[in-house]
Amino acid sequence: MLDKVCTDTNIMTVAPLNHAMPLRGPDISYDVHTTTESFKQLQQWVAEYGDVFPITQKTRKGPGLFVNDPDVIKHILIKNNKNYIKGVGFERVKMLLGNGIIVSDGAFWRRQRRMIQPAFGRDVIAELSKLVEQLNQVFLTRWQMLARENACIDITEETNDLALQIILHSLFSDDVKTIYEQNDGNPFAILTDDSARDLKLAVKFRGLSRIVGDIITQRRQSKAERMDFVSLFMAARDKDTGEPMSDKELIDEVMTLIVAGSETSATTLNWVWYSLAKHPEVLARAQQEVDQASYTESPGFEHIEELPYLRQVVEEVLRIYPPVWLFTRKALAQDEVNGLTIAPGTDIFISPYFMHRHPRYWPQPEKFDPSRFSEEASKAQHKTAYIPFSAGPRRCIGDFFAIVENQLHFGLMLRHLTMEYVEDHPIELAPEVNLRTRYPITMRLHTRK
Ligand code: HEM
Repeated sequence: MLDKVCTDTNIMTVAPLNHAMPLRGPDISYDVHTTTESFKQLQQWVAEYGDVFPITQKTRKGPGLFVNDPDVIKHILIKNNKNYIKGVGFERVKMLLGNGIIVSDGAFWRRQRRMIQPAFGRDVIAELSKLVEQLNQVFLTRWQMLARENACIDITEETNDLALQIILHSLFSDDVKTIYEQNDGNPFAILTDDSARDLKLAVKFRGLSRIVGDIITQRRQSKAERMDFVSLFMAARDKDTGEPMSDKELIDEVMTLIVAGSETSATTLNWVWYSLAKHPEVLARAQQEVDQASYTESPGFEHIEELPYLRQVVEEVLRIYPPVWLFTRKALAQDEVNGLTIAPGTDIFISPYFMHRHPRYWPQPEKFDPSRFSEEASKAQHKTAYIPFSAGPRRCIGDFFAIVENQLHFGLMLRHLTMEYVEDHPIELAPEVNLRTRYPITMRLHTRK
């Protein structure tokens, strides 16, 4: 039914909106942040002022502009992306990341992206999938034991742990063992134990750079060959100068990937578990797909094409609960799009959360329906009305990896386990740096016959 609605609407033919000034906006001055308070404020303003509205900022210099129109978003992120830098949105993680690829801009960012990009190619992800598969197996064995005991599990904590372990193994492969041994456990677990992105955490986290620095030094001395991100980054050369990254640059990029690749992935795994438990018809279809796939025990990279429905489930979860619910750009020079004039220095706020729930682009936006992402239905979508990974040259470098990670996880777990959602806490959004669940999600897992 929904497929039909999407196709019939033929969303791509919706005429661009005109945003000629003057635009209406709130009459208070306000600084938008990645906080629950700003989320609630924006929710109210989106209802009141519509798709594009100015915000007078309280302490920041330039004007603010909230944009919830896919044509304007396309212009900013893709067509005229050169006119925009990243802006204020990563303020709260900036202190964790030094000058890593998420926060850097201009020529330095371009150089880093060119050097890092090959590490996210299909062949590398295929290799890293073997590590992901092994980690999933370890979790499955433990969860099967808990299922036999009819015990409840905190799926939020478990997926936090799994996602962190996946990114650490993808970066350091078997050096992870050394790191754990030398630090009496996982020193990076402070990221999952402490969700406040404050100065205290930043200081603790930056302190861990030393561990990364030591690994880099040891690797320079040893000849052992490894297949992981750190090795690939160390081997990368600037195509113009032939130079490798300095130790400081390497450390910043590694620390960036730990932050960028763990919480977003953990949040997604967590929301997929929840969404499957709440939608038995979707779960049944996903289980059927998993049961019919050609692997015996556990899926590998070569099986992901056999799991298209799981992919759709993940895509729909990323629509309803986009982990990065808000990001920003800053305009360099004056710009014009569809009647809208953007002044130099404007801080632009783009929210995947509000874009993904816009009824003009998403019929029945609150409804969880993975069939929106069937091949046929996807053709009718406005491409920049779906931006969980952003768009354009700054699009998430780990997008494919993140989807594969989910397919491998659920391709294995749904073969062996089914879940029952235990309603011990209310489900409430916690829109901070990532869109998490305010309270942990509890599941009782059952072994499938
Ligand atoms: C479902 C999981 C994920 C989501 C929703 C997500 C989302 C995003 C978004 C929205 C951006 C761009 C922000 C902007 O345009 O300002 C981004 C950038 C980035 N992401 Fe992800 N991400 C995910 C997983 C990952 C993973 C697994 C990795 C690494 C292994 C990763 C690494 C990065 C990096 C390095 C950037 C910066 C790219 C650049 O600026 O050139 N992400 N991500």
